Amino acid sequence: MAKRRVAILISGRGSNMTALIEAASAKDFPAGIVLVISNIANAGGLASASAAGIETATVESKPFGKDREAFERKLHDTLVAHNIELVCLAGFLRLLTPWFVKQWDGRMLNIHPALLPAYKGLHTHERALADGVKIHGATVHFVVPEMDSGPIVIQGAVAVRDDDTPETLARRVLGVEHRIYQDALRLVASGGTRIENGICRTDASGSPDDMLIVPAII
Ligand code: GRF
Repeated sequence: MAKRRVAILISGRGSNMTALIEAASAKDFPAGIVLVISNIANAGGLASASAAGIETATVESKPFGKDREAFERKLHDTLVAHNIELVCLAGFLRLLTPWFVKQWDGRMLNIHPALLPAYKGLHTHERALADGVKIHGATVHFVVPEMDSGPIVIQGAVAVRDDDTPETLARRVLGVEHRIYQDALRLVASGGTRIENGICRTDASGSPDDMLIVPAII
């Protein structure tokens, strides 16, 4: 079967983008990354994408100022011109309007560095540490107009350590992100997900006996 044509939208370093590009280069992966778009000129991820042989484009948001829809129309036109079927947001620092989200309804994923619905928004690791939570993680979800909401495809968790700083925690969560984003894309691109009443159901079996208990009392 032909690979689904995927575009990744970035604004920065693009480590999730790189993980997706690597995963999708496998012959049996159901999606191919055919385009990387940045809304910021010279975003670090653009050079990594080019080095991996992926076509890149810059659609700068800045010149459009407050006219978010005008920026998004250009973005949308670029995606359509490349026959894109699925969009992955990976550190794309723009709020999207309901219009754009509607164009890609059920076909756009985002990764968020927290176990949603906890810690929507920014500074998730700082806030998790301030609350003293013992388990933290990352979520891949379908994009809906409301920020960091939408049907959850997959989540991955890490234990929070007493000596964690936002940086050490971010590093471990990022490792989880790189793993779960490719799993989510594999699932969605192969048709293994369906949305029922706003909930994402999957064909994946998971490991129902796994427990993560923190701290572990020996
Ligand atoms: C990641 O933590 C992602 O969850 C968040 O923005 C960060 C992007 O990092 N949405 P990178 O550009 O993929 O390295």
